[in-house]
Amino acid sequence: MKQTSILPATPANIQAAARTIRDGGLVAFPTETVYGLGADATSATAVAGIFEAKARPLTDPVIVHIAETAELESVAVDLPPLAHDLAAAFMPGALTLVLKRSSRIPALVSAERMTVAVRLPSHPVAHALIQAAGVPIAAPSANTFSRPSATTAAHVLEDLNGKIDLILDGGAATIGVESTILDLTAEPPVILRPGGVPVEALRRFIPDLQIAERYLSRETAAPAPGQMLKHYSPRAEVFLYTGNSDAKVKLRMREDVRAYSASGKSAGLLITDDAPPTGMLVETAALGTDLATISARLYAALRELDARGVDGIFVRWTRRDGLGAAVWDRLVRAAEGRVIIC
Ligand code: TXA
Ligand code: MG
Repeated sequence: MKQTSILPATPANIQAAARTIRDGGLVAFPTETVYGLGADATSATAVAGIFEAKARPLTDPVIVHIAETAELESVAVDLPPLAHDLAAAFMPGALTLVLKRSSRIPALVSAERMTVAVRLPSHPVAHALIQAAGVPIAAPSANTFSRPSATTAAHVLEDLNGKIDLILDGGAATIGVESTILDLTAEPPVILRPGGVPVEALRRFIPDLQIAERYLSRETAAPAPGQMLKHYSPRAEVFLYTGNSDAKVKLRMREDVRAYSASGKSAGLLITDDAPPTGMLVETAALGTDLATISARLYAALRELDARGVDGIFVRWTRRDGLGAAVWDRLVRAAEGRVIIC
């Protein structure tokens, strides 16, 4: 068991954290998307520690974080011209590019693939840490594997206390959902995960952009146990409601919540509009009303309802535009296929 310290992200503590990284240790740090669990990306031993702390399967590759766009060429090789255009437009920021891996990055980082996922976060603490460490930092989200990602230092502590060396507390992540992952080694390029940079913005650079069928679309959504990868899941079971008519969706959800409560289970509601439910004895967590607030609060709200001990979490979501695509993706995965189309 490690002694996990949690420190405010002051310049002195960032320097100490950078030394821990250089010494092969594990440091959780804030980024604008979610907290990351960092280790020296050039050290296979250090990176192995990440997988162990998170209980993450070795088949799931990790993102490499850099401090300057110039470092792209030190972690990746044969960059296509598009990589430079996208870096100029979206880095620093919530975009991760999958490129050909440089031999400087151990195969373990990429789960033995020939590629590497690279991101340049805009968060000042992340930036300062990577710069001070003097090495690229491999970092998945700082949560236990398959749990909702951590958007605060307290979330990191909840999942990883005793398993990592240090948590730099830089306040709550502002975007709240992970980066958009774009695979530039595919022709045409393909979005592997919708995230903080909207697909619409990338399409302006890549008209024939593809989107990986990572999650069920509205048309094909049907509970398909075993087909869905469990991810971003709270302990409670999540029920996701969607459909073109808000009124219809709300009605169905209300009926289901009543039946759920009547069966002796406790229901929690994630509220995505300003109309609180009336006449229902449920725990609620308000996500806010605009997309930016909703995505910023999403993981915290899932953890909050979990902490209140509900058995089921009910949520309604329809938007797929902008950050809405990322919110939909995370909810589908949290629901593990329990998607109810009304
Ligand atoms: O916003 C984010 O991206 C956060 C912060 C900490 O940067 N990181 C994050 O990492 O979400 P993680 O490990 O939770 O998710 C990264 C995903 C993984 O699911 C993995 O499958 C994919 O990125 N990935 C990493 N390297 C890849 C590669 N070489 N090829 C394809 N996918 C890759
Ligand atoms: Mg993750």
